[in-house]
Amino acid sequence: MTVGAYIHIPFCENKCDYCDFYSIVASEEERKDYIQALLGDIIRNADKSAIIDTIYFGGGNPGLLLPHDVNQLIQAMDEHYLLDVNPEITLECNPTSVSEATLKAFHRAGINRLSLGVQSFNGNLLATLGRQRSKYPDDIIAIAVSIFPRVSLDLMLGIPGQTIQNVKEDLSRIPKDIGHLSLYELTVYPKTRFSDHIKKGLICLNTDEESEGVERFFVESLQGQGFSQYEVSNFSKQDQQSKHNLHYWHYDDFKGFGAGAVSSWKGARYFNTKLPQYMQGVICDEREDLPESTQKLEWLMMNLRLTDGFERKRYRARFGLDVLEDFSSIFEEQAEWFRLSPDSIALTSKGLLFHHNVLSAFVAKC
Ligand SMILES: C[S@@+](CC[C@H](N)C(=O)[O-])C[C@H]1O[C@@H](n2cnc3c(N)ncnc32)[C@H](O)[C@@H]1O
Ligand code: SF4
Repeated sequence: MTVGAYIHIPFCENKCDYCDFYSIVASEEERKDYIQALLGDIIRNADKSAIIDTIYFGGGNPGLLLPHDVNQLIQAMDEHYLLDVNPEITLECNPTSVSEATLKAFHRAGINRLSLGVQSFNGNLLATLGRQRSKYPDDIIAIAVSIFPRVSLDLMLGIPGQTIQNVKEDLSRIPKDIGHLSLYELTVYPKTRFSDHIKKGLICLNTDEESEGVERFFVESLQGQGFSQYEVSNFSKQDQQSKHNLHYWHYDDFKGFGAGAVSSWKGARYFNTKLPQYMQGVICDEREDLPESTQKLEWLMMNLRLTDGFERKRYRARFGLDVLEDFSSIFEEQAEWFRLSPDSIALTSKGLLFHHNVLSAFVAKC
């Protein structure tokens, strides 16, 4: 079995109003010190018991890293872990913080997949989100596809004021060489500036009907542009699926490095400290052993996000029981949510649409 490694870079140039991810604005000096702490984390947890075939630099905004540091981190992974001969190595970044020169240097440093957080091509919608605007996002995307064999874009739905016309414009600006898209529905997190703006009536959320109409249009148009939906929020062209995220959706073990990162390893979850403790060498301060009922629930939650669902033999191999026996009442009572075959189980389009209700049904049984 192969596993993925996630490396968290908790730094951003600015904090976007809607964002609840663990990231802060820090000086160049602090970012430099962080790389040393991260190398310590990677080296101290050295483990050659499983092959790592994906590395994902996520954030925050890993586009703020120096390419030399990215290369050092990849080298450390290679030295202290069993790295696959041809691992997928993704770097996530905000288009505002990269240039042609940095993208070329990231590629030379070992990055072979780039994920660009575009969110929307419309400046007014980005302003509503309280997000910095890239002056030339199309140029950065065109440069990215000329350098990296695989490029993914993040786009957002449900942005207040977003219309089908905005979505048409977004679609028209996705170059044909883009092989992967993540389409996230805006989540409003408490304690963000965005949530305050809503409470004060400065921003009005779209109605459910408006959001659903925009989403339907977006998803159908993507299919017309050669993308297939392979997960609730992810679309790809042939052979462009995110191998790293597939590890999460398959509920494989994964290693997490960096402040605030989480690892999942042999039925337990390990939580890294945040800054400043992480800089003081206290890397991981919490372990949670997951009861089998939680593992089953999470396994199903993740695997049913995939449009092809899962092979029943994988559930049996992990939990020793056929899933249809384990949750017989749900499969009988909610038959319209599931596509059952002798070998596999997936959600129907209705099940995918009501993904949250499906999960609630499993939660109630676990
Ligand atoms: C952690 S960000 C990393 C990318 C980079 N920091 C950026 O913003 O361009 C990963 C993605 O999560 C999504 N995201 C962040 N906050 C979100 C929210 N409140 N609701 C929905 N999606 C969100 C955005 O699409 C973003 O590109
Ligand atoms: S750039 Fe990305 S991670 Fe940073 S604050 Fe904005 S959405 Fe969050």
